Amino acid sequence: MKVVTAIGEMRSCSRGWKSAGRKIAFVPTMGFLHQGHLSLIRAARKAGDVLVVSIFVNPSQFGPSEDLEAYPRDLDRDLEFCREERVDAVFAPPEEEIYPEGFSTWVEETELSRGLCGAARPGHFRGVATVVLKLFNIVSPDLAFFGRKDYQQFKVIEKMVRDLDLPVEVVGLPTVREADGLAMSSRNKNLSVGERRQALCLRRALLRAREMVSEGETRAAAVRQEMEGMIGREPDARIDYLEFADPETLKPRENLRPGDLAAGAVFIDTVRLIDNLLL
Ligand code: PAF
Repeated sequence: MKVVTAIGEMRSCSRGWKSAGRKIAFVPTMGFLHQGHLSLIRAARKAGDVLVVSIFVNPSQFGPSEDLEAYPRDLDRDLEFCREERVDAVFAPPEEEIYPEGFSTWVEETELSRGLCGAARPGHFRGVATVVLKLFNIVSPDLAFFGRKDYQQFKVIEKMVRDLDLPVEVVGLPTVREADGLAMSSRNKNLSVGERRQALCLRRALLRAREMVSEGETRAAAVRQEMEGMIGREPDARIDYLEFADPETLKPRENLRPGDLAAGAVFIDTVRLIDNLLL
């Protein structure tokens, strides 16, 4: 397995693979790999001839008061996982390789990224779209794999690829969960034992929302109120947002129907967790 830190070297690997007619499958990550990433890596392994994983904690998608410093990192452990999964190349650039002195060009999707996490984290999707476009330009993948836990991110990237005519097929895979239903996330590592127990409140509230809608409830306000009650019972939980939206346009919905997106973000003390489901 190659471990590549320089853009030029990554490009020349990709150029070689392409000219040999090999299909490049790509999994962009911020590292601290877990089973959710491994499901993407395994799907990518099957779909492509060559598998590239990037590991880069992208500072531009974190707000000034967010958890960039606390974001868990363990490159040696990640490389071990990647070796076991027969990854061909890991691209793990230093920050200055991606954002050199004087960097000033940004990519912004202006519709799908407005609500949900976009409203709660201004600038977040600008950072995501910019780094993903850069990674696509560096790695030149034929296919790129994303988890649907970050549903809005997946839709924003799909839209960017369509709008900017990028020659990449974007594949979204289902959320991988712990045995009790908690969505896998690198941030789960920052939860204490007590917080880990409370962290399930968002998943439970989302499942309750789906149940209410399947029983005929259509009022978003009534469903939200029930969810707020459930989450509010956890002493360290603070709701960032709970929203219902059209699953394609991500426009907010006040009258709910089965198939709508329900998504939320909850802080458990300082750890921000997200989850979603289709009602
Ligand atoms: O989902 C992530 O880990 C990140 O947002 C991504 C897509 C790697 C961009 O930094």
